Amino acid sequence: MNHVDAEIISYTLSERNYKPAKDCAKANLIVVVTCGVRNSAEERIVSWTQKLKTQSKNSVIVLTGCLSHREDIKTRLHETVDLFIPIENWMARKDEIFSLTHNVGAGLKPAPTGEKNCFYQILPQRASTFQAYIPIMTGCNNFCSYCVVPYARGREKSRSPESIINEAEQLVKKGCKELYLLGQNVNSYQGKDKNNRIWNFARLLKNINGIAGNFWIRFISSHPKDITEKFIETYANCRKVSSNLHLPIQSGSNKILGLMNRKYTRENYLDIISKIRRRYPQAVLSTDIIVGFPGETDKDFRDSLDIVKKVGFEMLFSLKYSSRPETAAQKMKDSVPPAIKIARQRKLDQVWKKIALAKNKRFLGQEIKILVDRIKTKTDNHGKITRYVQGKSFENKDIQGLIKSGKGNDLIGKWATVKISETTAVALRGELARVKKNI
Ligand code: 5AD
Ligand code: SF4
Repeated sequence: MNHVDAEIISYTLSERNYKPAKDCAKANLIVVVTCGVRNSAEERIVSWTQKLKTQSKNSVIVLTGCLSHREDIKTRLHETVDLFIPIENWMARKDEIFSLTHNVGAGLKPAPTGEKNCFYQILPQRASTFQAYIPIMTGCNNFCSYCVVPYARGREKSRSPESIINEAEQLVKKGCKELYLLGQNVNSYQGKDKNNRIWNFARLLKNINGIAGNFWIRFISSHPKDITEKFIETYANCRKVSSNLHLPIQSGSNKILGLMNRKYTRENYLDIISKIRRRYPQAVLSTDIIVGFPGETDKDFRDSLDIVKKVGFEMLFSLKYSSRPETAAQKMKDSVPPAIKIARQRKLDQVWKKIALAKNKRFLGQEIKILVDRIKTKTDNHGKITRYVQGKSFENKDIQGLIKSGKGNDLIGKWATVKISETTAVALRGELARVKKNI
């Protein structure tokens, strides 16, 4: 979401004739889009912004995103940042920036009318022509006890289905091949159409899948409580929708899930997974797990390891619990010592990587289709340069393919296939086999 926020901000600035600076130090204006999900991100942003100020003394610095409403952050950065603008107020308050940077402003275009409070209706200034992030909803009503999102982004708001479908159609028409539908909880999408009828996520997905063209659809993130039979049916049926479902479980212990206010048990989660597997055996499942939540015992952690094995996740983001201001869990004692959190994270990574390594072997010898998103070069000790195409497969696997001849720069944004000869837990490698407009 932060990425797309930055692309939308960039568009609103370009409308006022601001141009991207080549070098931060020479920019008149720097907008810092912040994340406050974990303390480590917050500390990085605070020190990075302070460093930025010393390098770019004459720049106006604006801070937005998760941290922009926090009084403690405003105090820490009051000498560094000129304006704090929460994302939800961006459209209403962005003119304050224009007056601070008035020295840039000759020839400013007038502000478009009727745009207030419609941040996610603004078309982002996209960095890529072949991959696009489309926000479909923002905010969250779930209040998981550890999470800042409901405080940082407010309640759930969905865009209208027409505006999303129209945006997707335009992108595909222009040759975009990978659409990422984004939201804190895409499965609780509730967009109203022009007849005031509410669409659910399954219906939106089906309609985007119906757009003519050769493209893939990915979506993040989903909450287990919102996975319906209708959604499973749509996910299984829609051939353009990636087979990877990212379904954060957060913990395998019912006691911890209760304390986290996740509104499901491990049994509910396993039940959803067996429904998915029955209907769609090729589904590739990934998840997030927090280790060291307040009160997590060895037994609770073993329940997390156990569910990882039972589900067979092929990708897992393990996160050490970080106490966050404003959240309910902040009032609980952060009882698990840092060394134990590190040890549990290591163990969890060992377990899921072993599963992923074994599962990835099924791709050996296969020719896998990817969308090339960059070219990687490696130079050996004798100065010999080897080039690889990189990209993701339909299943969301990271793939690398050796380029036997040519530099490959013209392959970026194209479909290609890679013949897989080597697999690890996190990547599949081989030789670039075919490049075509339509594979
Ligand atoms: N501490 C650690 N991890 C967190 N996440 C959210 N809040 C916290 C926190 N306070 C993780 C969750 C979520 C992912 C985006 O970040 O696992 O799914
Ligand atoms: Fe945060 Fe996701 Fe829970 Fe919402 S559902 S509070 S975004 S972890």
